[in-house]
Amino acid sequence: MKILAIESSCDETSAAVVENGGKILSNVVASQESVHARYFGVVPELASRAHLEKINYLVEKSAAVASGEKRPDAGNWKKYIGTDINAIAYTYGPGLMGSLLIGQIAAQTLAYLFDKPLVPVNHLEGHISSIFFENPSLKYPFIALIVSGGHTELVICRKPCGYKVLGYTRDDACGEAFDKVAKLLDLSYPGGPVIDKIAGKAGSATIKFPRPYMKETWDFSFSGLKTAVAYYLKSKNGSKPDSGAVADICASFQDAVADTLVAKAVAAAGKFSIDRIAVVGGVASNSALRKHFRKEAALNNLKVYFPSPGLCTDNAAMIAAAGYWRYKAGRGISFDKAVVDSNAEL
Ligand code: KG4
Ligand code: ZN
Repeated sequence: MKILAIESSCDETSAAVVENGGKILSNVVASQESVHARYFGVVPELASRAHLEKINYLVEKSAAVASGEKRPDAGNWKKYIGTDINAIAYTYGPGLMGSLLIGQIAAQTLAYLFDKPLVPVNHLEGHISSIFFENPSLKYPFIALIVSGGHTELVICRKPCGYKVLGYTRDDACGEAFDKVAKLLDLSYPGGPVIDKIAGKAGSATIKFPRPYMKETWDFSFSGLKTAVAYYLKSKNGSKPDSGAVADICASFQDAVADTLVAKAVAAAGKFSIDRIAVVGGVASNSALRKHFRKEAALNNLKVYFPSPGLCTDNAAMIAAAGYWRYKAGRGISFDKAVVDSNAEL
């Protein structure tokens, strides 16, 4: 079964074709980083407009690549969607309303034109499903830690479409904290990759930023940690840190984030007697986070899984994979029933 999926919940426009939920036939992504960089965050109106500009081309390209045709303008994609594609999936939420609507309308139009079922997919379920592309033998149940620019959620995954959310962030998402700290340090946007890179140049992480463990709950909080970085910078009387000091701050900050995330995920694995943890979402690329997880997993007899970096950030292949399981669970709908929900929960 082949699913063509569209992802447009935030600042990446993407279209993909995936076979039987696991084989990626195409996965094309247009990033809006350059559109939002000067604002140090995603500007919803600009995001919607950029999705609108790219969506048709990306759908054509994903269908063309999946059909073996390299040129999206060859025209074969129409025939390909009409004959080879079994269903159209799209992200219905959570995300930015205007951005979600662009994806919904594109998917709905394809479903109508080619008479295909439509499969609305939760974006977070998409991130969870991204783990199976490179780890097809991963068995349920497992703990999923979703860490991205908009989300920080700890979830028990018992079966496809069967999730229990344990906790989520009470303030900043973990990737958002990276982006805000990068801004404090006059680095570029998005902050996660650049902090990760600069931290790699630090000899060691010497600053003891607070670890927001919040042991009484499975929830997270990262705004205090971000404020701690701001206070640390103020304590230097406003003098600009040199490159060595910036590297130390980056390494110390990401160590604090990693310690917090790892402690919670490992505690959840212990509490619910589950020995597998999947770490997904944009921040799952972070090298300190991966290192801390691997160390703690070895100490606690756990297995930890990460998607490769290209599948950590938003992409439509993960939506197609989740869409496959949703469709199999009978959750396909007719094109005229399509909705979006910017606050959708798992
Ligand atoms: O999953 P994603 O592409 O979009 C959302 O669903 O939000 O995640 C984007 C987030 C950004 O905040 C970015 O700074 C962060 O992921 N990120 C990283 C790294 N690469 C991306 N954070 C830490 N380390 C990285 N290497
Ligand atoms: Zn995401």
